[in-house]
Amino acid sequence: MSKTRHWKPGESGTEVPAASKPDVAPAPRASVPPAPQLLSTMMLIDDDEDLLALWTLGLNAAGVEVVSHTNAEAAMADPELWEVDLLVTDLDLPGVNGPSFIRRVREANPKLPILAVTGSRERGLITDAYMAGAYDCLLKPAAASQILARGVRGKSEPGPTGRLGVTIEGTPYLIDTILGEGGAATVYAGIHLDLGRRVAIKLSTLGNSAAARKQVLAEARVLESLRSRHVPEVLDFRELEDGRAMYVMEFVDGETLHALQRRCGPLPLEEALPLMGQVLDGVAFAHAKGLAHQDLKPENLIVTQSAEGERLVKILDFGLANVAGEGAAGFTPGWAAPEQVRGEGSDARADVFNLGLLLESMLTGLTPKVDRAFSAARLPAELNDQQLEALAWWIEKCRRAEPERRFENAGKAREALGQAFSYFAKQSG
Ligand SMILES: Nc1ncnc2c1ncn2[C@@H]1O[C@H](COP(=O)(O)OP(=O)(O)O)[C@@H](O)[C@H]1O
Ligand SMILES: [Mg+2]
Repeated sequence: MSKTRHWKPGESGTEVPAASKPDVAPAPRASVPPAPQLLSTMMLIDDDEDLLALWTLGLNAAGVEVVSHTNAEAAMADPELWEVDLLVTDLDLPGVNGPSFIRRVREANPKLPILAVTGSRERGLITDAYMAGAYDCLLKPAAASQILARGVRGKSEPGPTGRLGVTIEGTPYLIDTILGEGGAATVYAGIHLDLGRRVAIKLSTLGNSAAARKQVLAEARVLESLRSRHVPEVLDFRELEDGRAMYVMEFVDGETLHALQRRCGPLPLEEALPLMGQVLDGVAFAHAKGLAHQDLKPENLIVTQSAEGERLVKILDFGLANVAGEGAAGFTPGWAAPEQVRGEGSDARADVFNLGLLLESMLTGLTPKVDRAFSAARLPAELNDQQLEALAWWIEKCRRAEPERRFENAGKAREALGQAFSYFAKQSG
């Protein structure tokens, strides 16, 4: 899972959230913000004593009480194992098979969430850890802040994929797979336990700032205000006792455009244009409402099937969306428009820049080179001259360095593409 988004200083993670109860003494001296009350105790097991000491320092600084052990037997014999909120265990413990150990702990205490940590990249081992009941696996080197970010507390039940998952305390939602991790929030696949409905949940990061929480709410509101076939439907919003916020949305069963491109390579024009038409429709709808997405890229577009069996594009991740005229909170290098990189205010025209890159990447199967002018030579040679000329003109106009020389918004860009490709104008709606 790539974390390419760059946050401007002060946007997230650097603020110390106010303690929600006045009698809770925060420990604001460390760079890790204090953990909210929910995760107050953890047991750590790792045979590397230096690492244990480092984690303990970081977690203590964040207000978490830590009990640690260097071997599994000592941990099993410790009555604290029944008291802690979370068990964090190394998978490569001497003389013990990590996944079997996890199974033993779960048999003894089925409600204890277990986070596995490993320096091994061996897939079998990691799969076994999940199968044994770890709800997640963190790869080393891992910092205390990552343990905090991945930490969950709650009772465990079987999840939608048959694996054991964790119920988010105080909610009917069970989560069991991480779909994506950003700076301020993590996206999980889960299920509404009463309704049995598959959902996706975006949960602000534990121990992260109030800004992360606010952003999750803002994102949910943006999605709600853009309710249409091209964005996932928002089903719920909740604030958790530990200060985190989450919104629940329909689970879109499909693959991201990024995954589709990796699987299929360059898309033929007759496939790329209808997909692009849908992206343009969705983005034009947002622009008409005065909203700009500001982070359009293949990872943030998901291709699913409509009830009629047609390809349907949904736009995800309005985490950076801004109201016209306001600057966005961050950007993705390699995709962002020059004005975003410079940290100047950006608007719908930054989205237009991304739309040009998107069509280019769909047709070429390559990651566009943002820092270089567009070259028509990158387009597939089998296109006829007229097509090549129209595409090159459109992409080049989207990609201009100066926002005022691009199409004004997605609606105008769509109109222009429709004029060049008449059948395209009739497609999608
Ligand atoms: N509603 C959804 N249904 C299915 N998968 C989703 C949904 N929302 C997000 N995802 C998956 O999670 C990933 C991360 O979500 P995104 O909203 O882009 O968050 P981030 O801020 O981490 O980039 C997406 O690339 C997609 O693969
Ligand atoms: Mg994203």
